[in-house]
Amino acid sequence: MPTDHSRALLVRRKTVLSLMLLAALTAASVHAEETAPTPVPHTAPIRQMAPTMGWNPWNAFRTEVTEDKIIAIAETLNRSGLKAAGYRYINIDDGWWLKRRADGRIIIRTTMFPSAALPDGETSFRPFTDRLHAMNFKVGIYTDIGRNVCSQAWDAKSPNLPTGSQAEREVGSMGHQTEDMRLFFGEWNFDLVKVDACGLADFGPDRPYVKNDTYRALKPAIIRGRPDLSDINGVESLYRDLKAAITQVRPNDDVILSICTWGEADVARWGHKYGQQWRTSADIRANWASMLHNFDTAVSGITATPSGRGNDPDMLEIGNGDFDVRHLTEARAHMSMWAIIGAPLILGSDLTKWSQDLIDIAGNRNVIAVNQDIAGRPRVISSDARIQIITRPLSTPGTQAVALINRGANPQTASVNRAQLGLTATSEVTLRDLWLDTTQKLVGDVLTVTLAPRETFLVLITTQP
Ligand code: GLA
Repeated sequence: MPTDHSRALLVRRKTVLSLMLLAALTAASVHAEETAPTPVPHTAPIRQMAPTMGWNPWNAFRTEVTEDKIIAIAETLNRSGLKAAGYRYINIDDGWWLKRRADGRIIIRTTMFPSAALPDGETSFRPFTDRLHAMNFKVGIYTDIGRNVCSQAWDAKSPNLPTGSQAEREVGSMGHQTEDMRLFFGEWNFDLVKVDACGLADFGPDRPYVKNDTYRALKPAIIRGRPDLSDINGVESLYRDLKAAITQVRPNDDVILSICTWGEADVARWGHKYGQQWRTSADIRANWASMLHNFDTAVSGITATPSGRGNDPDMLEIGNGDFDVRHLTEARAHMSMWAIIGAPLILGSDLTKWSQDLIDIAGNRNVIAVNQDIAGRPRVISSDARIQIITRPLSTPGTQAVALINRGANPQTASVNRAQLGLTATSEVTLRDLWLDTTQKLVGDVLTVTLAPRETFLVLITTQP
């Protein structure tokens, strides 16, 4: 049954097509001093993989994340069909540590993850990853490339910060890369690690929590927004060493390294050498302007990246704020935008509260298929403050996905012509509206659509090769 909203869209599309039939439309258009001793060279090429799909607790729960909440999400992914649609990675984010013990081993906060408490007094995520693997999920964990972690700088009031002495609170990977990667990928059997970088940015000697000796000082290798003042080579070499440490444990390169320097330290240039994905911006927030900003940073990263892929504008905010159940147009636009550039699709909402409308948006198979197709490089056809048009060739010869994005708060008309799409004047062209799943022929030279405020038209264009 079409919803009222989709019926309205259908009516509008029919109007658009009649307009197209009139055919008279014209085209518009750290360096860290005491880092790993001898870096092991990383030689294995990064596997080309479809963008990661899954769920991460940060946007919904910050450090208030428990095993129960995560399992409830996993069950919801299963029941709703979202896992079957591709959302397979369940990731832990910040907040899981209790401390780093004197022998170097990290201890898990078992009040949050009770299954981690083993009978012999040790802690292990193995029961947790085994449980999720048995449900056919992949599982991700989180750390920092420095000594300390983001929540210690940004969530000072969290009840879940690491405890103990200054040394015990150093739960980041610096100086412990080999042992931590053995723990994560050997003993605990995770499939992904997100490696944040606050430890390299937020623990300079001037910080109050460093001055009062809560945390040890580390001269920042990342100065946010100032690549000229950042130690780019130092940051890169730490991620290179970390990747090498992962490869030692998992030589088949079957795990994902998700780099999180928020676009800093020139990561768009080197991220692809070590990771499958790298963040291009600061954290997304659940509002339209923040979503656009993060999207733009990933679009800019495309040019710096050999395959154009891997640029990560951060987790999806579908289900939250400006993208909640009262804003389905915005939610569809957000999903379309992440799909057209092949960004990771990591849900960041409490899915147990989702209505079917939201499940249908995140789970739309047509849109996911575009996202997961890794054949081609995204290309911006045109872009201004109101309308942005982006295309990406897909693996089936003669096919491309095109997004016509209304970035503004007013209705707009958007047009793109055959030449801009690389189509000849006479070829027969089929247009498939990927949200409505309707197909029609392109008549004339120009595809024109009317777009509601903040609407994206995502279309599959097929032509005979
Ligand atoms: C940084 C990252 C976020 C999240 C938090 C956790 O801000 O960019 O995605 O992991 O840290 O503290």
